[in-house]
Amino acid sequence: MNKLIPISIILILLLSACRSDKVQLATQNDIQLENAIKQFSATGELDHFILPESNDYANIPTSPENPITPVKVALGKFLFFETGLGLSPMQSIGEGTYSCGSCHIPSAGFRPGRMQGIGEGGTGFGLNGEERTMSEFYVPEQLDVQGARPLSVLNAAYVTNALWNGQFGGGGVNEGTESVWKEENGTNINHLGFGGLESQNIESLHLHRMVINKDVVENLGYKPYFESAFSDFPEEERYSEKAASFAIAAYLRTLLTNKAPFQDYLKGNRDALTEQEKRGAMLFFGEAKCAACHSGPSLNAMNFYALGVKDLYETGEAFNTSADDKRNLGRGGFTEKDEDMYKFKVPQLYNLKDTPFYFHGSSKTTLEGVVEYFNDAVPENTNVPTSQLPAIFTPLGMDQSEIDDLVAFLENGLHDPDLKRYEPDYILSGNCFPNNDEQSKIDLGCD
Ligand code: HEC
Ligand code: HEC
Repeated sequence: MNKLIPISIILILLLSACRSDKVQLATQNDIQLENAIKQFSATGELDHFILPESNDYANIPTSPENPITPVKVALGKFLFFETGLGLSPMQSIGEGTYSCGSCHIPSAGFRPGRMQGIGEGGTGFGLNGEERTMSEFYVPEQLDVQGARPLSVLNAAYVTNALWNGQFGGGGVNEGTESVWKEENGTNINHLGFGGLESQNIESLHLHRMVINKDVVENLGYKPYFESAFSDFPEEERYSEKAASFAIAAYLRTLLTNKAPFQDYLKGNRDALTEQEKRGAMLFFGEAKCAACHSGPSLNAMNFYALGVKDLYETGEAFNTSADDKRNLGRGGFTEKDEDMYKFKVPQLYNLKDTPFYFHGSSKTTLEGVVEYFNDAVPENTNVPTSQLPAIFTPLGMDQSEIDDLVAFLENGLHDPDLKRYEPDYILSGNCFPNNDEQSKIDLGCD
């Protein structure tokens, strides 16, 4: 008995020594990681990457003409999913069957569940939008589809100029591009001087065959919301596309992935990331040079680069797109400048694992595939002259375990597990949403 006491004391001492070594090592790694992150911060502090709470309107960036208010957000949250607005379909059978949410599905990270989004003319939903396909009553030319993968609208508050080519919004990166704002490319709207999201949403309502006017608003039951949200608008503008677009923009700006583990980590919870995810973050903000481009608050940036990835028409069964699609030209398709050709906007990087399609042409179907692409730095699209590729696009020399670490950070560290909070419980029409075609109703459990 007597002999046992000293042994157990030694054991306890040994164990606690190990523990504090481990704690010290973790602390050292954390300090290293925090310093690495700060190097890419506009403020020199971690706060640059901390996304505000969704009701912290004072700290969510917005456009000056459209201050965020609770009632605008509530209205936008309905309208974004309101299938009852689908009143300008190609075919009458498509009426009232689609919404913005058809291509920006919350459970799919506000992207479509497939390589290309389908609005009108689509049928079915599956579990996550993955089973949507062309309806038998349609021909491809009638579908509402675009020649690039829909961007996520998560963290849209940090998008000053919308689309892969950044063409919407008169300010930000579009200052000085006034000569190419035209009717033909839909960017005439930039002359109104609204923010990128406000301008884009007005165009989106048209493009995606939706109708907003006083009668529609009244029939569906949204009149009191518009009245309250836009009491400062003149009566003739109060139930307009402009008002709907402003409300949707306010809602989109609240779609912040502030519950992701990396966010908790930045706020001081050093246990929020696993050791593997921390190693991945260290690569992201260090040797893998990801943050050199993905440097904005949502790891987005209002910059454009050519990575030489394939276009949508090259990667699978995409409708209505081809080698001639102007979207393939990226920023250059808008500015018409040679130096901008094949350059695409740096997208945000949260909730990527929610649906497996990456890059503007959905050419990768795993995050490992994306990381390997950057690691190898071999362009896959022969249409893109190598002179357009940035100098930083060179092989990174990561080994398999480093690739795994970086993927773990992207997949889980940057994943907000609760996007459900951004979905309405119902929409005022009482319709099924985000889709309302017969097969989707079955899939979504609406019948
Ligand atoms: C048919 C599918 C589809 C539907 C329906 C749809 N979108 Fe999109 N959305 C897209 C595609 C595709 C893009 C990217 C296009 C591009 O950049 O060339 C996009 C991009 C966006 C962006 C830009 C995000 C950014 O980071 O630049 C916003 C904002 C947006 N959509 C809002 C809406 C709104 C609002 C509606 C409803 C009025 C809507 N979308 C309906 C396919 C769709
Ligand atoms: C030269 C700037 C640059 C660097 C460096 C860079 N990226 Fe990107 N990233 C982009 C651009 C631009 C796109 C969009 C390209 C496209 O689709 O045409 C993109 C797309 C992505 C996507 C796909 C997102 C989506 O929604 O499809 C992921 C994931 C990603 N990057 C992760 C990384 C990681 C991880 C690293 C570091 C290994 C990295 N990036 C380095 C500019 C960069």
